[in-house]
Amino acid sequence: MYSDQEYELTILPGTTRDGKKEGFDRIVIRPGDTLSIVGPTGSGKSAFINDIEILAQEDTVTGRRILVNGGEPSEEIVRDPARKPIALITQNTRVLADLTVTQFLSLHLKARNTGTDAMISCTIELANEFTGEKIDGSMRMTGLSGGQTRSLLIADAILIGQTPILLLDEVENAGINKERVITCLREYRKAVIFVTHDPYIALITDRRIVMKNGAVFAVLEPDGSEGEIIGTVSGMDSFLWQLREKIRSGDLVGNRKGIRSAPKKTGIPA
Ligand SMILES: Nc1ncnc2c1ncn2[C@@H]1O[C@H](COP(=O)(O)OP(=O)(O)OP(=O)(O)O)[C@@H](O)[C@H]1O
Ligand SMILES: [Mg+2]
Repeated sequence: MYSDQEYELTILPGTTRDGKKEGFDRIVIRPGDTLSIVGPTGSGKSAFINDIEILAQEDTVTGRRILVNGGEPSEEIVRDPARKPIALITQNTRVLADLTVTQFLSLHLKARNTGTDAMISCTIELANEFTGEKIDGSMRMTGLSGGQTRSLLIADAILIGQTPILLLDEVENAGINKERVITCLREYRKAVIFVTHDPYIALITDRRIVMKNGAVFAVLEPDGSEGEIIGTVSGMDSFLWQLREKIRSGDLVGNRKGIRSAPKKTGIPA
């Protein structure tokens, strides 16, 4: 369990696809930091977070090195899944175990030794704040939808895994209330890296890493000037979320009635 230990990651540069050195000295990620990784398809976004996930030591195609608390990560952190401070959740992440949701969470709870059985229902409750399609403890893991699986795994990483660093690769597309996920990750002071094509997520993170040609092209630190547009995008997003839920539940959507769209003036969730 990690609640009493803080982790700081340092990313040291590798090379572009043509073998040139990446244009940054180091990127340091501390507890509570939120970063987004943006860039065209094939620009190296997934490769970047995969380097972090496996704690690369110049042994991947990019040549990057990842330090933990300023030094080379210990063998224990790299090899033992129960001690690894990083969870990667992607669009394709599926749990293939033939278990119910309750059995799955219970096994993880035992492996981590992080709390009592009450944590299982708390985790399901939290996951249900993230997904529009409710999860029940008696459902089978293999029967969950993609959105339900990702919601459950994020809630599981927060409460049972107590994982300090979460890497989320394009998890926002369907079935996830991303605004709630982001607020919750901030409440728990997680370090989070989102690979995203979603403007709202890209706009509200503390830093925006722009990828090009397999390498980090720029690290942008928003200066507050995007506040107004964030408010507008947040309003649009919440409108679309509610619209999607209505359409999914089979309602006819004749007009805006019943769907709140009021854009906030400044939308950065604290
Ligand atoms: N620095 C690099 N040097 C050499 N190859 C690289 C480098 N970075 C990424 N690649 C390779 O380029 C390919 C595309 O990269 P990646 O899958 O990370 O792109 P992506 O930005 O995640 O794309 P998408 O938006 O489609 O998911 C992969 O095969 C990856 O291994
Ligand atoms: Mg990718």
